Amino acid sequence: MVKVTVLGAAGGIGQPLSLMLKLNPYISDLALYDVVNVYGIGTDLSHIDTDTRVTYHLKSDAGDTGLVESLKGSDIVVIPAGVPRKPGMTRDDLFQINAGISADIASAISDTCPDAFVLVITNPVNSIVPVFAETFKKKGTFNPRKLFGVTTLDSVRSNSFIAELASHEADQAPTSYNIRVVGGHAGETIVPLYSVCAPHVYLLEPPEKMDELVHKVQYAGDLVVKAKNGGGSATLSMAYAGYKFLHAVLASSTTEQSIIESTYIYLDDSIPGAKETKALVKSISGGASLDYFAMPVVLSKDGVKEIKSDILTRINDKEKELLRISCRKLAGNIKTGLNFGQ
Ligand code: NAD
Ligand code: LMR
Repeated sequence: MVKVTVLGAAGGIGQPLSLMLKLNPYISDLALYDVVNVYGIGTDLSHIDTDTRVTYHLKSDAGDTGLVESLKGSDIVVIPAGVPRKPGMTRDDLFQINAGISADIASAISDTCPDAFVLVITNPVNSIVPVFAETFKKKGTFNPRKLFGVTTLDSVRSNSFIAELASHEADQAPTSYNIRVVGGHAGETIVPLYSVCAPHVYLLEPPEKMDELVHKVQYAGDLVVKAKNGGGSATLSMAYAGYKFLHAVLASSTTEQSIIESTYIYLDDSIPGAKETKALVKSISGGASLDYFAMPVVLSKDGVKEIKSDILTRINDKEKELLRISCRKLAGNIKTGLNFGQ
C-alpha cells in the first residue's frame, strides 16, 4: 500500500508522469494536485482499469484544503509544479516564482506528511532543493536522506547520446549504458562521468568529440526549449526520467534491494560517504565547500543509505576540470536558494 502525490499534476510533465504512475501495480493510491485543470485530468485517468485509486484535488477545494488533502498519508511526493522556461531564459530566471511555490509546498509537506520521500523536479533544481531543505529545517522536519533533486534526465540523456554516437552496433542500444552524472542540473554544473562507467564506455576519439558530447548533455534542455519554440521545456523525457527515479525509490523502499541512482542531495555528515564526497569535491575543485551535490547514491527504505563517493577518486583529468567549473557555478546557485526569504 503506497500513496504517491503528484503536485503540478495537470502540467506538461505532471500528466504523462501521472499516467505512468497509474499503471504501476505497487502504487495503491495516486493523488493529483494542481492549481488548475486537475479535475479533468483526474477524471480521465480514473477511467483506466488498473487497481491504483485516483483522487484529484484543486487548490481552491473547500476552503483551500486541496493541497493538504492530496498530501494526507502520502509516502512519496513528486513535484513538477511551477513554471518552465521559454526560449532566451535560463533556469535561474524561474527562481523567484518557483521558489515561492516550493516554499509553500514544503511547508504543507512538513505539516501533513513529514516522513514522505520528496522528489523535486521544479527548476532551478540547484537552488530549489535548498529552499525545500531550509523550509523543512525551520519546521523541524528535515530528513536529508529523503529529499531528492531529480537529475535523472541528465543520466537518461547521457545514455541516449553516447549510444547515438557508437560506431559498433553492439554499443548502439541506450539501455546498455548507465552513465553516472554528478554536480547539479543546469548547464556547466552537469558533469557526466563517461570515463568511470560500468559497463565500460570507449571514450570517443579525438577528444574534441568527447567535449561535444559532454556539451550536448549539459545543454540538452536548451535544445528542447528551442525546438518547442515557446511551447515549454522537456516534458515527455522528463516524465520518463521522473518515473524512473520514483520507481527506484519505490522499489528500494518496499523491497530489500539496494538500488543506485544519481540525485542532487544535501550532503549531511550523518550519511555514509557524505564527508568523503565533500572532501573530494573540495580537493578536486581547489577549495569549494559545497553542501549540495548530485552523486550516485544507494537507496533504501529509509532513503539515502550511502553516497558512492569513491566514483570521484576514479575520474579522469578532463572530468576533474569539468567538476571545477561545475563547483564554481553551483556555489552561487546554492547560495541563491539559501538566501530565499531572508
Ligand atoms: P507546466 O507549466 O506544463 O506545468 C506546471 C504545472 O504546475 C501547471 O499545471 C501549473 O498549473 C502547476 N502549478 C503552478 N503553480 C502551482 C502551485 N502553486 N501548486 C501546484 N501546482 C502548480 O510545466 P512543466 O513543463 O511540467 O515543468 C514543470 C517544472 O519542471 C518547471 O519548473 C521545469 O523547469 C521543470 N523541469 C525540470 C526538469 C528536471 O530535470 N528536473 C526537467 C524538465 C522540466
Ligand atoms: C531540462 O533539462 O530539460 C529541464 O531542466 C528543463 C529546462 O529548462 O531545460
